Amino acid sequence: MHTVTLIPGDGIGPEVTAAACEVIVAAGVSINWETVAAGTAAIEEFGTPLPQQVLDSVTKNKVALKGPVTTPVAGGFPSVNVSLRKKLDLYCNLRPVQSLPGVNTRYENIDLVIIRENTEGLYGGVEFPAGPDAVVATRIITRAASHRIAEFAFAYAAKRGRKKVTAVHKANILKKTDGLFLACCRDIAQAFPSIAYEEIIIDNLCLQLVQNPHQFDILVLPNLYGDIVSDLCSGFVGGLGLVPGANIGRECSIFEAVHGSAPDLAGKNQANPTALILSSVIMLEHLGEREAARRIRQAVETVLKEGTRLTPDLGGCATTTQYTAALCKALLKS
Ligand code: NAI
Repeated sequence: MHTVTLIPGDGIGPEVTAAACEVIVAAGVSINWETVAAGTAAIEEFGTPLPQQVLDSVTKNKVALKGPVTTPVAGGFPSVNVSLRKKLDLYCNLRPVQSLPGVNTRYENIDLVIIRENTEGLYGGVEFPAGPDAVVATRIITRAASHRIAEFAFAYAAKRGRKKVTAVHKANILKKTDGLFLACCRDIAQAFPSIAYEEIIIDNLCLQLVQNPHQFDILVLPNLYGDIVSDLCSGFVGGLGLVPGANIGRECSIFEAVHGSAPDLAGKNQANPTALILSSVIMLEHLGEREAARRIRQAVETVLKEGTRLTPDLGGCATTTQYTAALCKALLKS
């Protein structure tokens, strides 16, 4: 029996986390969920969007499954997601983007891995006024954080038999910050001579991705570029409802989808839970539950391929609940 922290989050979070928990039960894995509130749900009860008990629970259990949490725009409380990643030092945001059977998009056979630095860059949220009509935001890049994310990217490539790591930057303009990021990537690349290494400026990457995503394998990026490129790449495989992720640290890991709280879908039973279910597949692999992880992934592929129980984002009319029930049925047969 595993004990795992469950952060349902807000918006569509409670719906997609409930779906993931149901599928994990159907796969026969026993998890003792320690459920904790974060985001708007927590403010009402605890007066803060990130109560200490969330951090304590993840620190104790080392593993969490998390739904999205809303961050107010241009004001309000700081991002719970960023605070969790920084406070728990979850330095790597791993986002595999893979085509799934039965999902029709303009792109086929996509198999990209986004490895995003998750603790610094512009996400310190350090902003201050510079006179009455100007504001400054600081962007911090350190050697330590850049080295370890580059190391993660190459070690991941080596372990998974992947061929190439591409470092993404804007060091033509941000010569010092992205310059340091690149220097660290080059350093680490030397220790992995069997893995090809290349560099690309972020704007050209966007063009090249749209024209021919197959030329890339693993992308390693500073925080903001990784955030933006993740949403772009999810478009190749059918959208945000399908792309999983993991926030990985030396001590703990939090598994969550790329997508946010999707306020437009919240409470409508229409969200696609696949992204969070595939995030729990990565979590189960991390917990050593490889067979259950394999069976869940296979069930997702079976139901998508059948195409009769698809959620609206994939052109179907099934509810979150009906799609989840179809997955559980497929699991019971496997
Ligand atoms: P979003 O990812 O919530 O939604 C973007 C679009 O994708 C919307 O049209 C939405 O309906 C669709 N979508 C997202 N997830 C879906 C799913 N599972 N099934 C079907 N369609 C889905 O991004 P947005 O609108 O930029 O952000 C909304 C809120 O979420 C913001 O407060 C933002 O800060 C927060 N957010 C939280 C994240 C987290 O908790 N890790 C990550 C990204 C955003």
